[in-house]
Amino acid sequence: MSTLLDISALQMRFQGLTALDSVSFTLEQGSITSLIGPNGAGKTTLFNCVTGMYTPTDGRVSFDGADITGQAAHLVSRHGIARTFQNLALFGGLSVLENLLVGAYRQGSSGLLQGAFLTPRARAEQREAVAAATEVLEFLGMPETAHLMPGEMSYGRQKQVEFARALMQKARLVLLDEPMAGMSAPEKSAMTALIKRVQDKFGMSFLIVEHDIPVIMDISDKIVVLDFGRKIAEGTPAEVQSNEAVIAAYLGTAHD
Ligand SMILES: Nc1ncnc2c1ncn2[C@@H]1O[C@H](COP(=O)(O)OP(=O)(O)O)[C@@H](O)[C@H]1O
Ligand SMILES: [Mg+2]
Repeated sequence: MSTLLDISALQMRFQGLTALDSVSFTLEQGSITSLIGPNGAGKTTLFNCVTGMYTPTDGRVSFDGADITGQAAHLVSRHGIARTFQNLALFGGLSVLENLLVGAYRQGSSGLLQGAFLTPRARAEQREAVAAATEVLEFLGMPETAHLMPGEMSYGRQKQVEFARALMQKARLVLLDEPMAGMSAPEKSAMTALIKRVQDKFGMSFLIVEHDIPVIMDISDKIVVLDFGRKIAEGTPAEVQSNEAVIAAYLGTAHD
């Protein structure tokens, strides 16, 4: 397996606080790697450093051999990295289909939402994007949601739409920040199955932050554990689950 994402001695300081303290790990092409740890450990900060929302204060992020450290978010996404957010970030005034078209728009197409003023070329792009969005919704088993508004759907369903929107970007790596938070048990199993199907079918790689330990143990090829901004362990689910430092810092309380 070859390395897709290489995080090297990554550091993020906010005034007096070191949110990431020399964190290094690699994510292999086609794998599901998870990032776990207590609240405030630095997981979302790491996502923000990788996706260009924050400029790390030190260290390096390489993607497929290219140094993308400190690149702006729109440039990072052009490399083929997509993400979802810890809190829902759907546009409440747009239908599910329109929310997915925004995902396609971010990929670089022009003027997808300005229907009245489209050139023939842009019209063709729009038709393609609508076809792609319909295909993604069908693949995810939710074609009937295309014309619903986010507010008409359960929280779990809305998280699935966010996932669908990330897929629209045809990214090679998708970062999911707490994709199962607030989901019912059946919604969690559905989401787990979806992620695995996407990995199988498209060879897409995932970096996942999630607190549901059984889900993480089931889905991950590799787990990286953060605590107070430091990596305290890394390994297979079995290795991490039996790691004393991880049990003390996180797993001992996470099952409550
Ligand atoms: N923009 C910011 N400014 C100041 N402190 C921040 C900022 N973003 C995150 N932090 C701090 O960094 C630490 C890690 O936060 P975060 O990455 O959100 O943790 P996690 O996602 O693991 O719960 C926390 O102490 C948080 O308050
Ligand atoms: Mg977080």
